[in-house]
Amino acid sequence: MAKIYNGIPWFDQDGNTVNAHGACILKEKGRWYLFGEYKTDDENKYIGFSCYSTLDFTNWKFEGLALPPQKDDLLGPDRIGERVKVLKCPKTGKFVMLMHTDDLKYCDPCIGLAVGDSINGEFTFQGPLLYQGKPLKMWDIGTFVDDDGTAYLLTHEGNIYRLSKDYTQAVELIAENIAPGGESPACFKAKGKYFLLFSHKTSWERNDNYYFMADSLYGPWEYKGLFCPKGSLTYNSQCSFVFHYDGEKGRIPVYMGDRWSFPRQASAAALVLLPIEAGESGMEIPQYLEIWSPDTLNTIPAKPEKLLSFRSNVEGESCVIPFHGSRIALFGRTFQEGGYADIDIFNGEGKLVHKTAIDFYSLVPCEGLRYLSPMVPEGDYTLKVTVSGVGGVWYNKKGDRFGSKGCFVELTGWKADVNL
Ligand code: DGJ
Repeated sequence: MAKIYNGIPWFDQDGNTVNAHGACILKEKGRWYLFGEYKTDDENKYIGFSCYSTLDFTNWKFEGLALPPQKDDLLGPDRIGERVKVLKCPKTGKFVMLMHTDDLKYCDPCIGLAVGDSINGEFTFQGPLLYQGKPLKMWDIGTFVDDDGTAYLLTHEGNIYRLSKDYTQAVELIAENIAPGGESPACFKAKGKYFLLFSHKTSWERNDNYYFMADSLYGPWEYKGLFCPKGSLTYNSQCSFVFHYDGEKGRIPVYMGDRWSFPRQASAAALVLLPIEAGESGMEIPQYLEIWSPDTLNTIPAKPEKLLSFRSNVEGESCVIPFHGSRIALFGRTFQEGGYADIDIFNGEGKLVHKTAIDFYSLVPCEGLRYLSPMVPEGDYTLKVTVSGVGGVWYNKKGDRFGSKGCFVELTGWKADVNL
């Protein structure tokens, strides 16, 4: 049974964090392939787009870098690569990759194009995506493929371009400026209606995302408001993609969003995947599900077994938890003054078996599961949670400051040998 663990880092076959952000996911020959921004923990330079695969959303295989940094050009040194979207073209059988490229200050945006022969192989960068012979100088993008195989590019502010039959050019601007001020577009179709999702422009900070609805991609598009409860900041995430999952209850649209964590995006940023309820009158995600199965739509309760009250902003102070088992779950609270905790797991011989960082920052407080370790052979271990003394802080291109006002780590409990 597939299980989705929301808002916490996932790990691959080697215990490394699944590092895929601004992502998309598609199914090929029974396997799911996740493509996303491969980040570092200290800067924002393009270091590649990653590809991971899974059968169950729990066990992830790192397939490699689908597009490594280029020697020069749009994804060369000191450039940015974001919001990678991959489509399989039914006409050519090729995999087409679109992305936002930019300079480090986000002042030279351009949509880029790459093409691959296989879903988990390396793609070849082609240069800018052209419309009327000219590069499309836009930034945040999304993609959508309609039932007839026609593909569309979605951009910030709400432009929709139809792509050529081989998906390698934009050939028609079919809708324009639907969402002034909108970023991170995502689109899906359900019950004959089209839904178009956007975030507001708050850099990597979360906000209340919203949507439009239409009978045709060409519009008219009706503004419908929020799809998550007001003030939840889209359950602390920013929309990036919607895919369909065929489970026991039929076909459901699944929202995919980012819980960003600059600068430690590689270790601490996480994905949020939630089932969407969509019908003729609108769409909503009525509740946040911490752990759930897309097969059954059941939630899996995640509760601590042992309670803790550790709260500190003193750099180097740590909470040490000896445990027996093959996995440990850690619970805690995120809030405006939260910062990073360094996580270390040592085995009985004192050897480090896992190391990562987790983030205790969120603009709206949130209590729950913060970390679920990778599986380790059953035994005696010690988990050490150390206050790093650093909180996530970043600035947008206008110089506005975002992020944490402190560096607190607050733990509320843990559970060992979990079968979550
Ligand atoms: C908002 C965009 O939606 C993200 O993809 C990212 O580019 C941030 N801006 C960077 O500030």
